Amino acid sequence: MQIDPWGSSAYQDYARLRTEFGIAPFGQPEWSAFRDPHPLFRRNVVFGHRDFERVADAVKGHDPWSVMTGFMPSGDLHLGHKMVLEQVIAHQREGADLHLALADFEAMAARGFTAEKAHRIALDQYVHNALALGLQPERAEFYFQTRRTRVQALAHRFAEKVNWSQLAALYGFTGSTSMAHALAPLIQAADILHPQTDAEGPRPILVPVGVDQDPHIRLTRDIASDWRLLSVQEHKEGGLAIYVKPDEGVKALLDLAESVLRDLGYGETKRNEGYKEVRVRAGGKNDLRRIDLALARAEAKSAGGLGLVRPSATFHRFQTGLTGGKMSSSKPETSIYLTEDPKTAEKKLKASVTGGKQTAEEQRRLGAEPDKCPVYELYLYHLAKDDSHLAEVHDTCKSGARLCGGCKGEAATLLLSWMKAHKEKRDQVAHLVPSIVSAN
Ligand code: TRP
Ligand code: SF4
Repeated sequence: MQIDPWGSSAYQDYARLRTEFGIAPFGQPEWSAFRDPHPLFRRNVVFGHRDFERVADAVKGHDPWSVMTGFMPSGDLHLGHKMVLEQVIAHQREGADLHLALADFEAMAARGFTAEKAHRIALDQYVHNALALGLQPERAEFYFQTRRTRVQALAHRFAEKVNWSQLAALYGFTGSTSMAHALAPLIQAADILHPQTDAEGPRPILVPVGVDQDPHIRLTRDIASDWRLLSVQEHKEGGLAIYVKPDEGVKALLDLAESVLRDLGYGETKRNEGYKEVRVRAGGKNDLRRIDLALARAEAKSAGGLGLVRPSATFHRFQTGLTGGKMSSSKPETSIYLTEDPKTAEKKLKASVTGGKQTAEEQRRLGAEPDKCPVYELYLYHLAKDDSHLAEVHDTCKSGARLCGGCKGEAATLLLSWMKAHKEKRDQVAHLVPSIVSAN
């Protein structure tokens, strides 16, 4: 099985995705790191993660951490996009600073868009709607890939250690894949990693994305490791070992590793110049992450390395389209756009497939299937503010007390009032759009 970030498959078997790709489950032990966990966490919409523990460490230790994600401006924003923005905004409230890429290079390379079209969509849809959803301009920036030379330069460096076989295996690229398309993952890796090269330096970075982006996450995590001068691993005889990766300047790097360990308070260490390693007798996963971050900072500060910490990611489920298949921006009938005419939105909602029975009589008798219903998903992802309301929809649907007509009516009322309020918020924040988009 292969995940294609540019394809149109609907990923539905999330358990299988997790086992096949080694994505860890995201549940209460993870989200309880946050003061005010977003409903998307509690409702298991965010279902998996990689290395979230690093972020949890930072949240609990009041250390700096950042959120980095990106958006390909390939069409109007629909409800499926809204949830990532909401997650990002929730993280901002928890203290993360935000770095948000507007992937114009990718829209041009993968969708054949002109730069003008990509920019128009990016500003009017992504930036403007994000502000209306509550994104605060402080400690947040959007930037265009085409304007950020730091990202481009980093992508070029990263390309030194990535070869064609790797990209072909990860993405199914072939001889006829355009080079612009082949560059998209390198640009994305640079998007994800570049915040760590700013003045704040190496730190945990959380990348909230749909699971279709996992190949990029895996590639980026490998790139981060490939560029490290010092790495820390569990040793097969127990404890941890710090390795020097380059063959030059080994002595100075071992000195650096030892001084990092000393500063962290690890008393008993053993240096083996021949193996280019320093060993720490005791230590588990928590020590490993703590040492890794300190090594990254030290190598960036005083050994001329990039000191990139492997990024963490969370993965969210995809909302089912109103027609039952994938929610897609290229098929307007499958979704509701944040800025579309409310009458059109209402019509689409009323025409949606459901988990209901053929007749009202049958549904009263046997109940319906909320877990197979896109309308229920609207409540789950967007419309039910509190969990008790959601539970009520679920239970009354299952028992047969709720019928689809009335249920859609209730959803439409909630949706339309949300859309009206959103439009007003858009008007209120319109003036902020230019100020949150970085000039470079
Ligand atoms: N490829 C992403 C998409 O198709 C957009 C993207 C670009 C991105 N750079 C990123 C996502 C960095 C996460 C992190 O939507
Ligand atoms: Fe879906 Fe509502 Fe019908 Fe249940 S009652 S199947 S949630 S539309």
